Amino acid sequence: MSPANPDDRSDQADNFDRTDRVLVIIPTFNERENLPIILDRVRAAVPSVSILVVDDSSPDGTGDIADERAGADDMIAVLHRTEKNGLGPAYFAGFDWGLRHGFDVLVEMDADGSHAPEQLPRLLGALDHADLVIGSRYVKGGSVVNWPLRRLVLSRGANLYSRLALGVGVKDITAGYRAYRAKVIRAIPLKEVASHGYVFQVDLAWRAILGGFRAVEVPITFTEREIGVSKMSGSIVREALLKITLWGAVHRWHQVKGLVTGKKEIVRS
Ligand code: GDD
Ligand code: MN
Repeated sequence: MSPANPDDRSDQADNFDRTDRVLVIIPTFNERENLPIILDRVRAAVPSVSILVVDDSSPDGTGDIADERAGADDMIAVLHRTEKNGLGPAYFAGFDWGLRHGFDVLVEMDADGSHAPEQLPRLLGALDHADLVIGSRYVKGGSVVNWPLRRLVLSRGANLYSRLALGVGVKDITAGYRAYRAKVIRAIPLKEVASHGYVFQVDLAWRAILGGFRAVEVPITFTEREIGVSKMSGSIVREALLKITLWGAVHRWHQVKGLVTGKKEIVRS
């Protein structure tokens, strides 16, 4: 049954096992104004989920704000990291915390409001037929609001390149709004994932798909932040380009080798 209002969450998570414990991981670096807003929105939209803020010692004091909120709300916890070494490692620390605390579902969500907590039930609902749900801007019904043209071109280009290089059908493989079943994260040796920048998103989806897990995309509305600045940089783009090219080449090489020797292998770099 599809609700008249796509954001109406009343009947979307019906098939989702409500006894599953869900952890929403929110990485932060200098998000002091955004953090309270996103925490309020998550708590209001899906009161049953727990939240872990992963702060990399933000100089603007985001970590203190997170502590205050955690002190007043049992559903919120904070992980303080001493070093800022990229979004990937911040999430890996959050995943590790979530697995150790027995969560069944691990969600990735940006702190800046780009990922609407009001759409979280849609991601969770799709877990009834998937192991990894990607909140996608580029499937029917998905959209991007307020992005400058150059960022849209970069994102579209990165996705097209990934699809061609890796040969996977995911339309928004760089997306950062996701819900993973814990078993997917458990199956990925996070210590071996060397990706630092946003390319770790591609890395994890690719590893999950090659590992035989089911990934599905659900449409989301990605709204560009109104407060603060993006941490996207040239080095993040270069890392992505280099790694995706390498993984694609290695994968194809193994495919060709398999054809010649008759051996079927599923290999990534
Ligand atoms: N702890 C921590 N450490 N958090 C970080 C770091 C870091 O090194 N870098 C970024 N963050 C946090 C930000 O504070 C924010 O909450 C979130 O990660 C996303 O950062 P943005 O800088 O706002 O990312 P973006 O909007 O440019 O990129 C988004 O879209 C990309 C796809 O186009 C993200 O969702 C990416 O994950 C996604 O790949
Ligand atoms: Mn952002």
